Order: sequence, then C-alpha cells, then structure tokens
Amino acid sequence: MAKPQRSDPAEAIDIRPATVADLAGVIALDEEVTGLVKPEYWHDMFARYGARGTGSGCFLVAGNPARIDGFIVGEVRAWEFGSPPSGWVFAVQVRARLRVLGLGSRLFEAVCARFRAAGIDRVRTMVARDNTVIHSFFRSQGMTAGPFIELEMRLE
Ligand SMILES: CC(C)(COP(=O)(O)OP(=O)(O)OC[C@H]1O[C@@H](n2cnc3c(N)ncnc32)[C@H](O)[C@@H]1OP(=O)(O)O)[C@@H](O)C(=O)NCCC(=O)NCCS
Repeated sequence: MAKPQRSDPAEAIDIRPATVADLAGVIALDEEVTGLVKPEYWHDMFARYGARGTGSGCFLVAGNPARIDGFIVGEVRAWEFGSPPSGWVFAVQVRARLRVLGLGSRLFEAVCARFRAAGIDRVRTMVARDNTVIHSFFRSQGMTAGPFIELEMRLE
C-alpha cells in the first residue's frame, strides 16, 4: 500500500495546551488506543501537568474538544536518580487513522520546544521493550539509549 503523503489533514491539526474540556476526548482516544478506560488517571495527569499544574508540566493536545486526535504529556524533572534537570515524556498517542503522517513528530517537537524554552537541553522517556513502533518513533526523533537502566523486582 502506498504510504500517505505529508500533505494530509494531520498537518492542519492544531496543537495546543490541553484544557479541562479536552479530557473527555483524551480519555476516549486513550481507550481507543489501549482498550482501557482510565478517567481518574487522566484527570490526575491534567491536574499535575496541565496548564494550572505545578508549572513544570506540559500536556498538549492535537485537535479540538469534540475530537482529540493526539496528545503528549511531559514534565521537567530535576535531580531524581541524581540526574540534572531534563525533560521527560510520559505519554504520546495519535489516533490510528492519522498515524505516520507526522502528527506524533509535531507533538514531540512541540513538547521539546517548551523544554528548550525552559532552559532544558535533554529529553528522556521510557519505552516498553516489545513496543517496536514506539522505539521506531523515538529513534526517528533522534533519541538513543540514555545513561540509566531501569531495575525492578517482584514484591511478594
Ligand atoms: C507512536 C505514535 C505516537 C507515532 O505517531 P505518528 O503520528 O504515527 O508518528 P509520525 O508520523 O510523526 O512518525 C514519525 C516516525 O516514527 C516512525 N514510525 C511511526 N510509526 C511507525 C510504525 N508503525 N512502524 C515503524 N516506524 C514508525 C517512523 O520513523 C516515522 O517517520 P517516517 O514516517 O518518516 O518513516 C503512534 O504510532 C501511536 O499513537 N502509537 C500508539 C500509542 C503508543 O504506543 N504510545 C506510546 C506509549 S505512551
């Protein structure tokens, strides 16, 4: 199948800070992508990282309140694990039928622009080992393996 050209509707979609009116659309899109309905989680994410949150958060949406086509959430975090201030991306999602049209890249660039404006020169994220799409996406943005490794153990 021919790859869609980047002159598509995705280019015209507005990217802006999330408002509370966008949350229903974010929850609906997340349900579409993950199959899970998590209203409390998204309201909490908005309270923490939305425009009226702590100030270091960044919650951006693509689309309008009637239909959210994508979103990205991140925050500047300082000195956790001994790390100097850096931007973290916690979540990025794009509506399935609008993928591979550049919208995810625009969302990522928009959050990076906000990190840069805050004086931050590094962005980090964490990805599931088996999610090849998200690996490919972040690699395409220029991200490579960082200096930390995640450890975990099961608590009985
Ligand atoms: C990851 C995701 C946000 C990417 O959004 P997108 O709008 O499709 O991304 P872009 O169109 O900007 O793609 C940029 C690059 O990412 C890579 N990429 C994106 N989708 C890909 C796929 N399905 N397979 C391989 N590479 C892919 C490509 O290198 C692409 O560049 P190219 O089109 O020049 O080849 C989207 O696929 C998504 O929402 N996935 C499901 C949610 C998810 O897993 N989120 C991560 C956990 S929070």
